[in-house]
Amino acid sequence: MKRICLFMLALMLLNACSKDQHVSSPDGRLYVGFRLTESGCPQYCVQQDGGAVIDWSELGLRCVEADLSSGFKYQGSKQKKHQSGWETVWGEERMIEDRHNELEVQLEHSSGIKMSIVFRAFDDGFAFRYVFPEQEQRSLTITDEVTAYRFTDDHAAWSIPWRTEYYEGIWTKKVLSEQQDTLCSPITIECAKGGYAFVHEAALTDYPAQNLYMQNGALRTYLTPWLEDGKTTEVKAYISMPFVTPWRFVIMAHDLSEMTASRIMLNLNEPCKIEDTSWIKPMKFIGIWWGMHMKSMTWEQGPKHGATTKNMERYMRFAKAHDIDAVLAEGWNKGWETWEHFSFTEPYDDWNMDYLSQLADSLGVQIIGHNETGGNAADYEGVLDEAYTYHQAHGIHAIKTGYVAPIIRTRDGLQWNKGQSGVRHYRKVIETAARYHIAIDNHEPVMPTGLQRTWPNLMTQEGVRGQEWNAWSPDGGSPCCHVTILPFTRIMAGPVDYTPGVFAFENPVMPGTRVHSTLMNQLGLFVCFYSPIQMACDLPENYEKDLDALDAFAFIERVPCDWEKSILVDGKIGEFCVFARQERGGDNWYIGGINADEPREVTIPLSMLDAGKTYHACIWRDGENADWQTNPYDYEIDNGYVDSTDTLRIRMASGGGLAVVIED
Ligand code: NOJ
Repeated sequence: MKRICLFMLALMLLNACSKDQHVSSPDGRLYVGFRLTESGCPQYCVQQDGGAVIDWSELGLRCVEADLSSGFKYQGSKQKKHQSGWETVWGEERMIEDRHNELEVQLEHSSGIKMSIVFRAFDDGFAFRYVFPEQEQRSLTITDEVTAYRFTDDHAAWSIPWRTEYYEGIWTKKVLSEQQDTLCSPITIECAKGGYAFVHEAALTDYPAQNLYMQNGALRTYLTPWLEDGKTTEVKAYISMPFVTPWRFVIMAHDLSEMTASRIMLNLNEPCKIEDTSWIKPMKFIGIWWGMHMKSMTWEQGPKHGATTKNMERYMRFAKAHDIDAVLAEGWNKGWETWEHFSFTEPYDDWNMDYLSQLADSLGVQIIGHNETGGNAADYEGVLDEAYTYHQAHGIHAIKTGYVAPIIRTRDGLQWNKGQSGVRHYRKVIETAARYHIAIDNHEPVMPTGLQRTWPNLMTQEGVRGQEWNAWSPDGGSPCCHVTILPFTRIMAGPVDYTPGVFAFENPVMPGTRVHSTLMNQLGLFVCFYSPIQMACDLPENYEKDLDALDAFAFIERVPCDWEKSILVDGKIGEFCVFARQERGGDNWYIGGINADEPREVTIPLSMLDAGKTYHACIWRDGENADWQTNPYDYEIDNGYVDSTDTLRIRMASGGGLAVVIED
């Protein structure tokens, strides 16, 4: 009986939708319906496999000039089918397919304002955005976006609160009806009847970042507001026609493999705008960095100054010897004493940039620059051309930027970094850097939304509670489960500069605390956490401490950071995950696993290997007695031959992990 009722309900919804406008995914399993209510309120609903997943939900914007959430009349609609493939400059896979059907509903508001809503239905989710054509009304001041997602069940969602500074929080799970906080976008939903949804936005270029909150049974949008004199105003965005908002999208996946394989977000961003991308190179790097967080070095000049010519030379020679492509140096430039006016062109006098840039050339090791702004984005914008000319002249093709403030000083005064003004600043940095052939690793960013498709020089970003929290968090560092949540939440939004690779777990800065990880967990992160510029964060002396450390470091030397294909082998949010990735342009596969507290054996079928071929496998695994608290360094290396009919069974310890190289 219950089944019949559900069927009737689905049928009723379908009928209700079909009287109006709708679009289905290419495989016909996902359906997005659109209607205008009697009072002209735009609404949409979604079904998957014949069942309602999102009930009729509000669409529209409120503006100073007009309330664009009701009072619309239907003007017409257009449908389009799209099928294409494109090659990534770098990424989790080389080729991405974009297959979707599009519906554009054209509306006219009682005020005369014209607005379209463009829907896209993909096989694994849907998206929509608001589009304003050129028209008499030249601009709008948006005070609210009413976009809602009325899920048909009370699902559980993984999230962090919207005020989490720079998104550096621990993700937690709660059913939607109990979410009292406003949340950062994205959120990851574990659906009540199985399957997963991922709610986020794409192509955020000139608009405030979306946040989400629950009200009257629906998840709703809260745009990051403009500030005036440090106080919240009612304004969220200023837009000029023509204008398109970022896309709102939801991945609707049957399992976590499908969810992590979804490329909806990248497909919603515009194609690459950089003509010659040959200078954009994925790379692994070490850096004069962890020493500062461990307080054995300082950023500013003094007896423990980290970024000295001598120290940099030592790091660069280590990189050369161990197949590491680049070295980051923080604290090379003037300004660290006061954090007020950083110079991006004047080194401290114990840093010889000319010498180091020549050394970089002769060793074939790159220097990664560092531009900490201390939150003064306006000053930085003012000297971007000078700063990038200086770096380019010294052969530097990648810069780590930093803000260390959730409210930054932009050209519009103090503003949320994820408000419209902050978003404009970050975009300006990326576009300017591209002109100087400089790649960006942005710390304290706005949450990524797939812009790397358009600007592949935006290579990685922080926006995560990264490894550095294990150095200075008063609560003793992140719990083991933290890293097993991130691939399904934050990293779904884009590459992450988490900085894996700690090899010395005891923390001298916070005695009694330690990184919640075994050595193998640190290795597993290099595969599980995707970043095309990937840091091995520890000090060279810890990697060279003894033979065991060097043998473990051998995996970091070998693992690439640019992939032909990527597969989630197995995982459960907050418990464990195992990824397999094939090296770009090669046949070799790399497998990484990370585990939370409960030791477990994972089963890894090798069916991704070419049938009939024999490969050599080298496996780094937790030792019998490994445990993050009592014995984090215990590990074994196994070697053997495998083929596509084999299955690996590997135990991961508490806080443990695994790493495998499978070579042709
Ligand atoms: C915070 C960044 O996340 C960290 O990586 C950097 O070392 C410091 N800021 C100093 O810029």
